[in-house]
Amino acid sequence: MDIYEIVKKRRSVRSYKPEPVEDEKLRRILEAALSAPSAANRQPVYFVVIKEEKIKHQLKNAYNAVWFYTAPIIICVCSIPEKGWKRGDGKNYADIDATIAMDHLILAATAEGLATCWVAAFKVPDVKSVLNLPQGIEPVALTPLGYPLDHPAPTYRKPLEEFAHII
Ligand SMILES: Cc1cc2nc3c(=O)[nH]c(=O)nc-3n(C[C@H](O)[C@H](O)[C@H](O)COP(=O)(O)O)c2cc1C
Repeated sequence: MDIYEIVKKRRSVRSYKPEPVEDEKLRRILEAALSAPSAANRQPVYFVVIKEEKIKHQLKNAYNAVWFYTAPIIICVCSIPEKGWKRGDGKNYADIDATIAMDHLILAATAEGLATCWVAAFKVPDVKSVLNLPQGIEPVALTPLGYPLDHPAPTYRKPLEEFAHII
């Protein structure tokens, strides 16, 4: 699959097969995330890969959707704001760097035939406490990772003319 096929194939998948993800695939997609660019190459990004059923169960307070726990793996991407590059006006790019790394991971997962779903609607204090995140490490997004049970239809996108302006 080339990059255009991968971006077209990716969907937010909300049902997963219970079969495990191969370790080599997991490693490859984490390496893809590590290849992501970051502002001033500060790499203020940290991933937590959750396979343990006990920890997944504890996360239910943080994000209570039944489908989320059908996947064999849950991944949390975090930013480390104190390591992030700051623009002259003070804007910290750590969350953006974490988001780029997560997007690399998600596209690599798609290329491997795996599925994901960005999740941001979680309770931050619960995720921090269940994952035992040290102070200064901020969870930015979660995703399940596993083999999809179905392939949802594409969702609506606004017309390109509304999205991009070529001058
Ligand atoms: C930053 C971000 C946060 C999201 N948070 C959630 C979420 O908390 N729960 C959920 O079910 N989907 C979440 N989504 C998935 C979006 O609903 C989905 O990407 C959008 O509807 C487009 O569908 P598609 O991903 O299949 O193209 C999130 C997506 C993004 C990019």
